[in-house]
Amino acid sequence: TQRTLVLLKPDAVRRALVGEIIGRIERKAGWSITALELRTLDGSTLEQHYGEHKGRPFYEPLIEFMASGPVVALVVEGERVIEGVRALAGPTDPIAAAPGSIRGDFGTIVRENLIHASDSEESAIRELKLFFPEH
Ligand code: GTP
Ligand code: MG
Repeated sequence: TQRTLVLLKPDAVRRALVGEIIGRIERKAGWSITALELRTLDGSTLEQHYGEHKGRPFYEPLIEFMASGPVVALVVEGERVIEGVRALAGPTDPIAAAPGSIRGDFGTIVRENLIHASDSEESAIRELKLFFPEH
């Protein structure tokens, strides 16, 4: 089985969509949430988390947005959960995301797209170490 890091971004918390989004993850058969915490992310954590995007035009506003309020960080465990949560989330740009996906149903603009999920096994290992080192 796999593990993945999920972040419910500050817009999800502000818009009271946490229960709705976690419900979709919980209803998926065979998956389980093995860690969960509300926390406000600092600059150093965010720079490490989104380091691959450093230098891109959207990087600074992305970091600022991600620090603008608490996020809900969770570890989800289960069969093919890395690609599975990405599929539940839908494409990065909510306009391109189909109804039925989290971003398709609730997303507004590309920066405020509600959810992060690790995009590969390597990313999952790196991000889990960063967010849940004790886990
Ligand atoms: P994350 O799970 O947050 O990593 O999203 P992702 O994997 O679907 O997208 P990616 O890693 O490519 O980009 C990270 C985040 O940067 C996205 O979720 C968006 O919030 C933001 N982002 C990515 N591309 C753009 C862009 O072209 N414009 C803007 N404004 N934001 C972007
Ligand atoms: Mg990404």
